Order: sequence, then structure tokens, then C-alpha cells
Amino acid sequence: MLDIVTQLDAHRVAATLGGGQRRIRAQHDKGKLTARERIELLLDPDSFEEWDTFVEHRCVDFGMADNKIVGDGVVTGYGTINGRMVFVFSQDFTVFGGSLSEAHAERICNVMDAAMRVGAPVIGLNDSGGARIQEGVASLGGYAEVFERNVLASGVIPQLSLIMGPCAGGAVYSPAITDFVFMVRDSSYMFLTGPEVVRTVTREEVTPEELGGATTHTSRSGVADLAFANDIEALMMARRMIGFLPGSNRELPPVVPTEDPADRAEPALDTLVPDNPNTPYDITELIVKIVDDGDFFELQPDYAKNIVIGFARMLGSTVGIVANQPLVLAGCLDIKSSIKAARFVRFCDAFNIPILTFVDVPGFLPGTAQEYGGIITHGAKLLYAYAEATAPKVTVITRKAYGGAYDVMSSKHLRGDVNFAWPSAEIAVMGPKGAVEIIFRQDIGDAEKIAARTEEYRHRFANPFVAASRGYINDVILPRETRARICRSLEMLRNKKLENPWRKHGNIPL
Ligand code: HXC
Repeated sequence: MLDIVTQLDAHRVAATLGGGQRRIRAQHDKGKLTARERIELLLDPDSFEEWDTFVEHRCVDFGMADNKIVGDGVVTGYGTINGRMVFVFSQDFTVFGGSLSEAHAERICNVMDAAMRVGAPVIGLNDSGGARIQEGVASLGGYAEVFERNVLASGVIPQLSLIMGPCAGGAVYSPAITDFVFMVRDSSYMFLTGPEVVRTVTREEVTPEELGGATTHTSRSGVADLAFANDIEALMMARRMIGFLPGSNRELPPVVPTEDPADRAEPALDTLVPDNPNTPYDITELIVKIVDDGDFFELQPDYAKNIVIGFARMLGSTVGIVANQPLVLAGCLDIKSSIKAARFVRFCDAFNIPILTFVDVPGFLPGTAQEYGGIITHGAKLLYAYAEATAPKVTVITRKAYGGAYDVMSSKHLRGDVNFAWPSAEIAVMGPKGAVEIIFRQDIGDAEKIAARTEEYRHRFANPFVAASRGYINDVILPRETRARICRSLEMLRNKKLENPWRKHGNIPL
């Protein structure tokens, strides 16, 4: 017995040391924490319960039979974040470069399976050289086992990926399927084929950072949601993010009690929208003023900036916010913003998080780049996402709601539950200028006539009353009372039940 206990201690020490002090030093020298240090920071103190600590690989090729390291390059288990259960895996780059073997994959799958059974999020800390080269197809099989679980877990439990080192080849597809991806600047990268392959095939010269670093993926590709300066910041933000999310689709998001009164008036909002309909303003000012305690957790802030998405709370409960941003491209919808918002709306709906939409949209962005790029298909994604969503939907039109974009942005016709408009709302097929140039084309040479027609059109349609008279909006509200009216609506919608017709699954235009 004593002998076994001594062995157990030795095994534990070996597991803690991973690939040894030299490699731990190398990890620290790169500004990276070790797999275990990361878990320590991510979870509440002393809450981590490790599983499968003594797992070893089963590979016998290339001298691997004599080269086994306890744990096999990943640390897995569960613990709590602010007292709430999460499952976690953390790849250990000091052990075979964090590469994924069959046994390593099994450890990850075990926590994913358990997370599905108990209904808790999975957080993956990725730092890996990819498939364990010595294992060949067994490692590829391991990846596919993880992918399958990522897919089955999608919409059932939240999945969050932190990229904290290399993530290359097919390995990128596991994070890509998860709901949110955070990256660390300068020490993490994601790409399908690295710079050397790129040079050989396309003759492009590109650094790993340019090809797949945090800035690339948060501003150009949209693959990642947020980039952070270092491991610690990324882990702290992961903790914050989890605070907005339910454990699974079987429960509601956590409620964080607030002192912020539900009926708080915000007189400053009365002057947010400029008199000139073509003058931009910052929609995040509105968001910050109406959510609980001004706390808005924005996602993808550097990508498709013409739409803003993120989480906040109202009445203490999580809401997902989607808002056109007049500061960028006048807030129009284009390919990137449609995809960005569509995926977010679908996440919120999957977890029954109420969707709050702020509309100031002049329409879809015109042009060959958009049409050739497939704006028809991509714009339809957002339409589809809103139309299929059964979570509570509250919409506020602050200014423009023109054309197809009016329909798309959580309109009444797409089962918007409560649709408000500010007095500054303009709801029509298109803006007055464009409309007059089409329906009064014969008068185009006559500036005076055109000005009069434009004024007439503006007077008739550039207001919320035509839509209101048809019942397309529930009420015209004063900007200052926006928070109070949304809170009341959310309270009313608390027990909303709506189901879509049975089907195996829909066919969203991918
Ligand atoms: C086995 C690996 C490994 C791998 C790294 N190591 N990657 N061992 N399988 N895939 C080992 C190294 O041998 C080394 O061992 C240690 O990890 C650290 O690696 P270094 O190269 O010293 O580190 P660094 O200079 O930081 O470079 C990191 C790296 C590089 C860029 C990730 O190691 C690399 O290019 N690795 C190969 C990447 C790769 O091609 N993977 C397969 C991709 S295909 P020692 O003992 O010296 O410490 C793939 C398919 C997935 O993943 C498909 C899924 C469908």
C-alpha cells in the first residue's frame, strides 16, 4: 500500500512537470503560461478536479514506446468559474509540443461527453503542434472524434476556445466549430497551411503572425472574436464571458442582481440622433446607456464594424445585442456584417438568450464586390437567423429602417415580439432622395420640383407613423424611456413559448 502511495506521488509529480523544467522555461520565455498555470487562473481557487491524469499514449513507432509522459500533453477535468461548473482541457506544449495523440484526444472527448451529460460549458485552451506525427492516422481519428463532439454539442452547451499557441492544419476546425474564439497576441496563430506551404504554392511571402495571428483573425477573417495582450488577460476575459452564459440549453442564463433601476430614464438619449439624417452617431453610446450598469461585453469589435454584437444584462439577465453602427459604412448591411450578426443571433436563440436589436440601417451595401461575393446568400443568413429565432426578440428602430434591411433586422414580420420606434425613425422602401429619383424620373432636370417631391416623400414616409398605423411597431417611444420600455418588454416575455414546426433541421443558406 505504502509502495503504491509512493508511486502515486511520483506519478503526480511527473504529471505536474509535463515535459520537464527545460521546456517549461522555454514556454515561459515565450511569454506563455503552462497548461496547469492557465487552468489555475481560469478556474476558482482549488476548484479544479483533474481526470485521466495518468493516461499515456499507446504509440510504439519511432522510439515512442520508451518515450511516454504522464498525461500525454493535455490536462483535463472540471472546476468552477464564480461557483458555476465548467469543463476544461488545456493542451501542454511542453509534452510533444501539445500534439494530439489518440490518448490525448480521448481525454478531451471524456470531458466533452461529461459536459454534455451534466449541461456545462467546455473551455478549450489550445496550444498544440497538431496531429501527433508519430501516430499517423490514429491521431487524425482522434481529431475527428473531437470534431464530432463539437458538432453534437453545438447549441446544447456553450463552447469557448482560447488559442494560446500554435493551432494549425485541420486542428483549427475544432475551435472553428465552437461558439467563441479568443486569441493571444504575438503568441498564438491559426492557419490551415503555414507560411512555408503558402510560399511554395502561391509564392506569397507572409509571416505566421500576418497569416494567422490574432490581429488577422479578429480584423480580417473574423475567425476569432477577441484578441488579448497575454494569457492572463485572455483567461480573465473567458471568466467574464462565461458569466453571461447558461450552462446548457436546458437552463436560463445566470441572473446577476443589479441596483440599476429598470425604469431609469436617460434624457441624454433624446439628443443622440443628429437632426441631419446623414450625420453619423455612435450606437454603442445608446447600448451602454440602457444596459445594466453600463456593462457591455462586445464581441468582434474590430471586424465588420458596421454592425455591433455582444452581451449585456437587463433586469440582471443576459441579453444578446445586435445593432447597426451608423459610424461605419452608414450602418449598412454587407456580407461580413450579415454573417457576423447571423451567427450571433443563432447562438443567442440556441440558448434562449433574448435578442435586442437596434436598427439604423440605410439598406444593403450596393456594388459588384458585394453581388459577386454573394451578398444574396450571405444576407439571407441574417434573415434566416432572425426568422427562425424563437427566443424573445425586442427591436428598437432609432432612425433608418429601409428596404430589405428593415425586414431583416428583427421586424414584426419575422416574429419580433416587441418592436419600438423612436420619433426619429424613418421606415420606408428607400431613402427620400433615391425614391424620388425613381418615381419622379421625368422631373430629374428640374431641381425645384425634385426638392419639393423629396420633401413630400420625406414628410409622408420619413417617420414612424406609417409603420405604426399598420401595427408594424408596437409603440413610438421617447429615447429617454428606452431602457424602461425594454425592461418591461423583457419581463413580459420571460415565459415566452414558441416552437417552430418539426423538421430534421432547416437548410440555412450557408
Ligand atoms: C509530434 C511534435 C509535433 C507534432 C511539435 N512536436 N509538433 N511532436 N507531433 N505534430 C514536438 C517537437 O518535436 C518538439 O519536441 C516539441 O514538440 C516542440 O516543438 P518545436 O518545434 O521545438 O517548437 P517550436 O519551435 O515552438 O515550433 C512549434 C511548431 C513546430 C511550429 C508547432 O513544432 C511544428 O511545425 N510542428 C509540426 C506541426 C505540424 O506539421 N503538425 C501536423 C499538422 S497536420 P522536443 O522533444 O524537441 O521538445 C495536422 C492535421 C490535423 O495537424 C488534421 C485534423 C483533421
